[in-house]
Amino acid sequence: MAYNDTFIRACRKQPVDRLPVWYMRQAGRYDPEYRKIKEKYSLLEICQQPDLAAEVTLMPVRKLGVDAAILYSDIMNPVASLGIKFDIVANVGPVIDNPIRSAEDVRKLRPIDVDGDLSHIIETIRILDRDLEVPLITFAGAPFTIASYLIEGRPSKSYIRTKEMMYAEPEVWFSLMDKLGDMVIAYLRAHIAAGAKAVQLFDSWVGSLSPADFRTYVLPTITRIFAGLSDLPQPKIYFPGVSSGELLPHLHHIEADVIGLDWRVSIAEGRKRLDNRFAVQGNLDPYILTAPAELIERQAQALIDEGLQSPGYIFNLGHGLFPEASLDKLKELTGFIHEYSESAIKR
Ligand code: CP3
Repeated sequence: MAYNDTFIRACRKQPVDRLPVWYMRQAGRYDPEYRKIKEKYSLLEICQQPDLAAEVTLMPVRKLGVDAAILYSDIMNPVASLGIKFDIVANVGPVIDNPIRSAEDVRKLRPIDVDGDLSHIIETIRILDRDLEVPLITFAGAPFTIASYLIEGRPSKSYIRTKEMMYAEPEVWFSLMDKLGDMVIAYLRAHIAAGAKAVQLFDSWVGSLSPADFRTYVLPTITRIFAGLSDLPQPKIYFPGVSSGELLPHLHHIEADVIGLDWRVSIAEGRKRLDNRFAVQGNLDPYILTAPAELIERQAQALIDEGLQSPGYIFNLGHGLFPEASLDKLKELTGFIHEYSESAIKR
């Protein structure tokens, strides 16, 4: 089979024969084969074994027929190299042994050593670069989202300690943003050197900030990260996560190629708020997958019609797949997106 570069073309707003589609969290618990592997190994143990991590990355590509692979890893993996001890606890998420609470805690963070501490991840990317016939997307967590775990010590709904540090100790906050920004740049550059074809920055929880606080406390670091990658030709995606619609007008100047949208903003409105400067990716509500097939297809069709109004559209969900999603429905949806968009483009 010929290499499928539809996803990369869409990132660059180039013409495509049909729309590319991939799903955030496409490697995961909705797949019984994945659950079997998880009976034996934890997420972190899978990541430590490059052949297995590569296989788990490939599974959804084979099963669903998606147009991109996303590296099987977690946003927490690189912080191990900074000296943070954590675990990914089942049905909870990241839990940190030594949360960051003081200037001293931030000062003690080491610079990332990708070749030394994270060679297993680089090896996984090399294996995938050799085996894949679709582009490999790798990713990092954005500084605010990573900081929320490092400071709270576990998943949070209010981000109270994170915001407390941000508001009460801005110098400590900005030194943490600087260190996490440096981490992301070095980590993603190493991914691209190893063969990643695109990178996505996940800022899942930054929508918890007001637009003004986003501009003050977070955007300078996001701007610096994309500037620090701008010499590399591979497409870069920023996903500002849940409820991020109000942040979109503030992103105009970042040197990303694609912005991921959640489902609370329409594709057309998202493009307008972004001044049509980027390709866009998203944004089906993942929970629509609980609906009858007919309703899923009706919503997908509306999204495709809207996406095709302007070049640069990548079909995805507005957030990650959930464990109860059905493999069969996802497979059908992927086929539908390909067929419907192909005939719509021909028209
Ligand atoms: O998308 C993919 O298929 C690639 C793999 C991937 C994982 N985590 C594996 C994983 C990606 C892209 C991530 C990113 C990630 N991790 C984010 C950003 C994306 C988002 O959803 O907003 C965040 C916030 C995390 C932190 C994290 N890790 C959470 C909140 C959880 C969920 C806890 C739970 O059990 O529900 C995890 C665990 C995790 N990371 C799982 C997977 C497949 C599920 C648990 C498992 O299978 O072990």
